[in-house]
Amino acid sequence: MKRIAAALVIIAIVAAVMFYWLTMPSRLPSDVLAGLDKGDAVAGERMFNAGGCVSCHGDKDAASGTAPMLGGGLALVTPFGTFHTPNISPDPQTGIGKWSFADFANAMLRGVSPSGAHFYPAFPYTSYARMKPQDVADLWAYLKTLPPVVRANKPHELSFPFTIRRGLGLWQLLYLSPDPVIAIDESDPQLVRGRYLVEGPGHCGECHTPRNLIGGLDKARWLGGGPAPEGGGKIPNITPDPSGIGSWSAADIAYYLESGFTPDFDSVGGAMVEVQRNMVKLTAEDRQAIAAYLKAVPPVASAK
Ligand code: HEC
Ligand code: HEC
Repeated sequence: MKRIAAALVIIAIVAAVMFYWLTMPSRLPSDVLAGLDKGDAVAGERMFNAGGCVSCHGDKDAASGTAPMLGGGLALVTPFGTFHTPNISPDPQTGIGKWSFADFANAMLRGVSPSGAHFYPAFPYTSYARMKPQDVADLWAYLKTLPPVVRANKPHELSFPFTIRRGLGLWQLLYLSPDPVIAIDESDPQLVRGRYLVEGPGHCGECHTPRNLIGGLDKARWLGGGPAPEGGGKIPNITPDPSGIGSWSAADIAYYLESGFTPDFDSVGGAMVEVQRNMVKLTAEDRQAIAAYLKAVPPVASAK
């Protein structure tokens, strides 16, 4: 009996040590950020629009000027609880005005906060992790030009065990990877650009790809649609399968992203309204690149 008890204690200690190591937040190696340009705010605004930051961090109560007011405050209701988006405006007290560029890059590319905690993937950094470090530097330069908004963050309302940020380290080991999801013809610059925009900043897969029980994206059904992550309704399949948007031409897709009209002259609805509002601000070439990529992904039949 004593031996078994001692063995169990040892196993428990080994498990705790493994949990500690496996869940340790991992920061970017310093050479990733060395040698980047200072950041170009004009290019950064394009990344901001591709990334849809305003859809989640836009402060609905802040007086609306022409510049985005990133005070946060949106409630995202998920199966794990309710997330309240934080203030990412340059206000030093309630926003991220005191952050360094390295702090921001670690949030975007590693999902790690300045104090070394893991972020919840309700912040779609699993997609942003595929962004080029220079694009993150440009985005940072743009964010710093925006007006500070004074608005204190509201704590998330989550249930146990989702309250433990450290546990997210295990989840990140499984799902955080900067590698592309879909293999494409790497010699086609339009496809490469489209893949970058969709899989990276555009984070289209975060809504259009079904999730498993622990909230990871099912990459075998990439962009195959499914239940809406925030509950209520379905997200359409946007692969070239007949049960998806196989009947849409690349021009139809680009037109939808620009105008909000489907080939049947339905207008865009639901959570896609905000996305389309951001897409209209991209260049025509970028919308065409997204369309070309959506025509090139493997077709997935919609779940019955
Ligand atoms: C789908 C909604 C959503 C989108 C889109 C989104 N975020 Fe967030 N973001 C969140 C949530 C939720 C959190 C809080 C995560 C947490 O507490 O772990 C967050 C946290 C952050 C933080 C950390 C703030 C802090 O005080 O710790 C930064 C920085 C950030 N987001 C930047 C961005 C940028 C830049 C973009 C656009 C490229 C963006 N986010 C797009 C939902 C979103
Ligand atoms: C916040 C969740 C969300 C994100 C992110 C998102 N979508 Fe959507 N998308 C939707 C929803 C919901 C619909 C259904 C809209 C409707 O009912 O009119 C939709 C519809 C579409 C359609 C039309 C499909 C059809 O059958 O009508 C296309 C094409 C599309 N999205 C492409 C994209 C692309 C490209 C991106 C990334 C740049 C993207 N979506 C990001 C939620 C999202």
